Amino acid sequence: MAKVMVGKASDIGEGNMIHLTVGGKEVLIANVGGRYYATGNTCSHAGAELHEGELKGKELICPWHRAKWDVTTGNLIWFPQKLRELGNYKVTIENDTMYVEV
Ligand code: FES
Repeated sequence: MAKVMVGKASDIGEGNMIHLTVGGKEVLIANVGGRYYATGNTCSHAGAELHEGELKGKELICPWHRAKWDVTTGNLIWFPQKLRELGNYKVTIENDTMYVEV
């Protein structure tokens, strides 16, 4: 695990998300109710980039076939078939500087 500085927490408003390549991994970071969560950005169904989807509370909806993911855990909420979980990454904030452990 490496702790990587990824930017300022205040740049991601509540209900918004960004994506970054961190340590060679595609990572999505979301602000849900003022807390920050990081998960994989690539839908395990067919590879959509999830930051192009919608965020409703903690539900992340895939832009291609509407799989619903829990952005706080990377777990699948709904899809007609079982999909591999997205995984999640630890986010820490120090004086507005955000770090992700990948
Ligand atoms: S690519 Fe995400 S549900 Fe199909």
